[in-house]
Amino acid sequence: MSNIKISVKNLYKIFGDNPSEMIEHLEAGYTKESLLKEFGHVLGLRKINMDILQSDTQVIMGLSGSGKSTLVRHFNRLITPTTGDIIIDDENIIKKTDLEIRNMRRHKISMVFQNFALFPHRTVSQNIAYGLITQGLEQGKINSKIDKWIDKVGLNGFEDHYPSQLSGGMQQRVGLARALATDGEIILMDEPFSALDPLIREEMQEVLLKLQKDIQKTIIFITHDLDEALKLGDSIAILNNGEIVQKGSPQNIILRPINNYVAKFTKNINRSRVIQVSSIMDDDLKVNGPTIDGNMLIENALEVLSEKGSLTGIVTHNSKPIGSVNLYKLIKVINQPALIK
Ligand SMILES: Nc1ncnc2c1ncn2[C@@H]1O[C@H](COP(=O)(O)OP(=O)(O)OP(=O)(O)O)[C@@H](O)[C@H]1O
Ligand SMILES: [Mg+2]
Repeated sequence: MSNIKISVKNLYKIFGDNPSEMIEHLEAGYTKESLLKEFGHVLGLRKINMDILQSDTQVIMGLSGSGKSTLVRHFNRLITPTTGDIIIDDENIIKKTDLEIRNMRRHKISMVFQNFALFPHRTVSQNIAYGLITQGLEQGKINSKIDKWIDKVGLNGFEDHYPSQLSGGMQQRVGLARALATDGEIILMDEPFSALDPLIREEMQEVLLKLQKDIQKTIIFITHDLDEALKLGDSIAILNNGEIVQKGSPQNIILRPINNYVAKFTKNINRSRVIQVSSIMDDDLKVNGPTIDGNMLIENALEVLSEKGSLTGIVTHNSKPIGSVNLYKLIKVINQPALIK
């Protein structure tokens, strides 16, 4: 499949003095806890296998210490694995030389940090220029790119301000512009909006969504927040103790959590506002009633049914019937406890 951008193969990361020797203990069944207790090594990541598709936003979730940052820092080789491979565009980045890695960071992959990590003594423009200067672009080009990205992230008029003169949300707009200005194909975002107020956070999610429609980058986005994950993610991977416990579409994670660890992330969600009708429809095409687009959320489908006074509806995709729903099923799905117990 050619639309795989990043492929992680059997990746392990163990912290300690003899990490390679720990692999066989892990294979023999040691857990993160017992490995630490008996061998004094910390399990960071265990047997990670995942493909990330081109232009997708891949969300990574998991409790604190589950290995999210450790995983994402492998993609730009801030961390070297104990064993395993990461293939980006058919190149194994684990085998790259230091020089090749530096080039990769300059041109191909950029990162946005939770604490913004701006240069305090440089202005907004100078912060955005940073990656462009290391790319060796000429001043004219740098200036036009700065103008373009200042405009795209909505910071017009703040070009000469310093980070300390900006609010958190504005600082992260600079962080975003700096990461996007180098025009790399992959953007790593490690809890980029977690330090922001709820309203500003939502605003930044909108900014990112709007930009992504245009730029179509491959984004790896770490978050603790399920609402954020559902809003931004094409795919969600859930980590626990260094392992991926489930990876799938947001719909799949909510409807079919593989265990209680995953279910706990989803239990407080308003299911009628996130589940799409096509995820839960029946195959039966012989029903009557109004048509309901498969992408419609349950909440809106209920509205359509009640407006038309119908118990059933015909689910469509591109205006063609693909299935059906009925009122009772919709209500059942909303109330179905996601928690397995
Ligand atoms: N340099 C290191 N040395 C030793 N252990 C480390 C190191 N970096 C990470 N770890 C351990 O690896 C595990 C995963 O850490 P990581 O920072 O990836 O978690 P995280 O999911 O990003 O957590 P958070 O949500 O708190 O940011 C933790 O047990 C942590 O203690
Ligand atoms: Mg982290």
